[in-house]
Amino acid sequence: MMGTLTIVFVLLLLTGTTMSKELGTQCYSLTYQDMALSHPRPEQFSFTNTGYLNGQSFYRYDSKSQRAIPLPPWDKIEGMNDWENESQLQKIREDFVLENMQNIMDYYNDGNGSHIFQGRFGCKLCGGDFIKGFWKCQYDGRDFIEFNTTDIPAWIPLDPAADMIKQRWEADPGAVYRAKAYLEEQCVGTLRRYLELGKAYLRQLIPPKVNLSHYSALGGNLTLKCLAYGFYPEEIELHWLQDGKIQKKEVAETQPIGDGTYQAWITAEVPFPEKNTYSCQVVHESLPESLVVAWGEQ
Ligand SMILES: *[C@@H]1O[C@H](CO)[C@@H](O)[C@H](O)[C@H]1NC(C)=O
Ligand SMILES: *[C@@H]1O[C@H](CO)[C@@H](O)[C@H](O)[C@H]1NC(C)=O
Ligand SMILES: *[C@@H]1O[C@H](CO)[C@@H](O)[C@H](O)[C@H]1NC(C)=O
Ligand SMILES: *[C@@H]1O[C@H](CO)[C@@H](O)[C@H](O)[C@H]1NC(C)=O
Ligand SMILES: *[C@@H]1O[C@H](CO)[C@@H](O)[C@H](O)[C@H]1NC(C)=O
Repeated sequence: MMGTLTIVFVLLLLTGTTMSKELGTQCYSLTYQDMALSHPRPEQFSFTNTGYLNGQSFYRYDSKSQRAIPLPPWDKIEGMNDWENESQLQKIREDFVLENMQNIMDYYNDGNGSHIFQGRFGCKLCGGDFIKGFWKCQYDGRDFIEFNTTDIPAWIPLDPAADMIKQRWEADPGAVYRAKAYLEEQCVGTLRRYLELGKAYLRQLIPPKVNLSHYSALGGNLTLKCLAYGFYPEEIELHWLQDGKIQKKEVAETQPIGDGTYQAWITAEVPFPEKNTYSCQVVHESLPESLVVAWGEQ
């Protein structure tokens, strides 16, 4: 058990070369997502692991093929990864995740039940030097355990069964330090290397499409929604303008759509008669000047 965990952390350490080029103020991320299911028929378990570079999937491993397969356009990049090695690594991770999942199911006396375990880990690099590592797991859609990357790294249990998992993962006192080093050093090194290799795909600018919609809210009010979607990179600003003037600074919710582009939105609650005085302003690197969309103009 302890041995496996060490192997998992050690094998995750893919070497990265430093990228000398200016990265700008943009944020980049390298994210890995695990998904394990118990008792999907006909198998006993299934496991998948997908790698995302800036929200764009670049490889996928599944327990059926036991192979990590690069996805287009990343499969054309020579030397991006040793996919044979990655397949073997993911097989080890699969066994590790499934063993932990079985422990959780046993803890809840449901050793034969249908459950789902999800993990999301990786690193984010902003402005060339701001670094953030993250690792969070969910069980049956609920937050289960999360890694705290402070100076005294530790797993934070968020579920009764997670105390048991934390004890196992921290039984080797060095494991949390290796996990932290993996997220904040090796992962970032790999991210920088991928950014260099994948420049042609990552530096493209895709302008947002914009959709305004509204639905009725309490007291004769309207909730206005301004949705920008299909854009890249992730950074975007959305503002409500009333009679052409910025109403208030708002932070838009942003999500990856899964195809490498993002969507973001803001909402506002306004009295029905004022609806037509509102428009939505979109500021994005791909647009030479900000885009203003008014009602009935889309
Ligand atoms: C993957 O490659 C690393 C470094 O090149 C090596 O140390 C490791 O043994 C390989 N792992 C497997 C499972 O082949
Ligand atoms: C799980 O399934 C096995 C084989 O079908 C059975 O022997 C065992 O009693 C079951 N365990 C539980 C906890 O239901
Ligand atoms: C993370 O660890 C630091 C220091 O050990 C602690 O102050 C902080 O509260 C922890 N965060 C959470 C969410 O537990
Ligand atoms: C844009 O809005 C229209 C209706 O206003 C809706 O039918 C369409 O699905 C929306 N598009 C997106 C991407 O949400
Ligand atoms: C309707 O919207 C106005 C302006 O945003 C707000 O002040 C008011 O509280 C809203 N009314 C209700 C019933 O929510």
